[in-house]
Amino acid sequence: MTTRPISTDGAGIPAPSDEHSLSVGPNGPLLLQDHYLIQKMAHFNRERVPERVVHAKGGGAHGVLRITEDVSQFTKAKLFQRGKETPLFLRFSTVAGELGSADTARDPRGFAIKFYTEDGNYDLVGNNTPIFFIRDPQKFSDFIHSQKRRADNHLRDNNMQWDFWTLSPESAHQVTFLMSDRGTPASWRNMHGFGSHTFLWYNAAGEKFWVKYHFKTDQGIRNLTAAEADAMASADPDHRIRDLHQAIKTGQHPSWTVNVQVMPFEAAADYRFNPFDLTKVWPHSDYPEITIGTMTLNRNPDNYFAEVEQAAFEPSNLVPGIDTSPDKMLQGRLFSYPDTHRYRIGPNYQQLPINAPAVPVNSYNFDGPMTFRNQQDPVYAPNSMNGPAADPAPYAGANYNVAGEIIRSAYTLHADDDDYGQPRALWENVLSETDREHLVGNIVGHASAPEVTAETKKRVVEYWSNVHKDLGQGVSQGLGLS
Ligand code: NDP
Ligand code: HEM
Repeated sequence: MTTRPISTDGAGIPAPSDEHSLSVGPNGPLLLQDHYLIQKMAHFNRERVPERVVHAKGGGAHGVLRITEDVSQFTKAKLFQRGKETPLFLRFSTVAGELGSADTARDPRGFAIKFYTEDGNYDLVGNNTPIFFIRDPQKFSDFIHSQKRRADNHLRDNNMQWDFWTLSPESAHQVTFLMSDRGTPASWRNMHGFGSHTFLWYNAAGEKFWVKYHFKTDQGIRNLTAAEADAMASADPDHRIRDLHQAIKTGQHPSWTVNVQVMPFEAAADYRFNPFDLTKVWPHSDYPEITIGTMTLNRNPDNYFAEVEQAAFEPSNLVPGIDTSPDKMLQGRLFSYPDTHRYRIGPNYQQLPINAPAVPVNSYNFDGPMTFRNQQDPVYAPNSMNGPAADPAPYAGANYNVAGEIIRSAYTLHADDDDYGQPRALWENVLSETDREHLVGNIVGHASAPEVTAETKKRVVEYWSNVHKDLGQGVSQGLGLS
């Protein structure tokens, strides 16, 4: 005979029944004193935390980063030293849809990694594209509103999307990726990941470099056509979560080759593109990718809610050897993520096991809802009681000069900066004939939605003509405008 554990309430008290409420006789009314029933219903009412305001639908897995090359000349970050193995958690996501939306929607994919390093957590919160739609965080909430739902009818609206994009020409590069078949990857395993921003690396001698991260899928790039993605959205809207879970469960551990592009610190000032503009890549001919290691996902979460839903990534989690850059978008994100976590999960979200570092926490942060860290005295600094004390030494080398007038302004342009040159290079030099046909077809399909006005369609054609006249011509013909 198998013995079963006895069910309990959250306090560990044996449950009186899993089936019957406490009533006055078998047919009588229920009693307020049935505290077991009340805690069960009350807890159920609080089972959800608010979903993420963006990137709500996703899945994730645990894994490991292995560094195979010596990059100590560029960074002293401990996780990037040759031979190092660092445990990590990676969450993939779509951006605009809600928690129950289809995994195959045309959207960038989130690629958010938390590295549990010996210097605390390092978070790299990137996407599957090396660039983004905008270059100033001032426009982020407006951009997201245009991708989500209207105020009056609560519907998503392609007119709103094209209205925003065509009035924001800096979006052209990212929208080219989005409207290509890379906007609908076949699985999370079959796409690259990018840190997207430019970050600062500094070495033990205090020398500084600018760096971009590229995680190249070892499974190969595979995408769906628009028709395949639409079909999958109804056949299996959770396909991406299922695919990742099944692959790991059956021992097919997905992996990515970890590459970086490294720019000497001084080269940024007169590089032909603004190296901090998030709508631009650094062409490989200028800065080739250098392989530094490999990342493998090898363990499924035990509990989706505890590990995936409550995972809290923040670009402000940086460790010695790595720092921010003057990228305005990165600067905006440094504030936004910890702020949204304090609201969505609570101010002590860092104490949850998925977010807690693998090293001791000696913070002077104190109390707050749901705290379970055993804060010791003294609870303030400076103190004369031998409490924890800051050590600036690991950060030596991160400092650099900035100066200027305090103004609201676009970035100053570098020699080759414009909004259309890089998407044009993608169209002219990288996309195959089939890729181009699909890009035109996907744009036309999207901009043909009934809500897209004639005025917006004209701007859509202008926008794509600015990228390339053949692309503009194809879109114009597809929309019946020429
Ligand atoms: P390269 O020819 O050296 O690199 C082209 C890059 O494009 C490769 O990283 C390639 O890597 C990627 N690529 C291939 N097919 C597609 C596709 N259908 N959609 C998106 N990316 C694709 O040229 P440059 O470095 O000079 O860049 C030219 C253009 O390529 C850029 O303007 C940009 O649009 C795009 N690109 C550049 C990247 C960079 O970091 N330099 C990164 C990604 C794209 P893979 O096939 O492995 O994805
Ligand atoms: C999630 C804000 C730009 C990648 C989020 C969330 C917010 C946010 C509030 C929800 C976080 C949560 O509830 O856990 C912003 C702001 C941006 C910005 C203000 C610009 C100013 C970007 C860029 C990228 C990116 C440029 C990629 C390069 C992600 C990812 C997630 C996310 C991957 C999901 C993280 C997860 O899996 O939990 N963003 N974002 N975001 N963002 Fe951004």
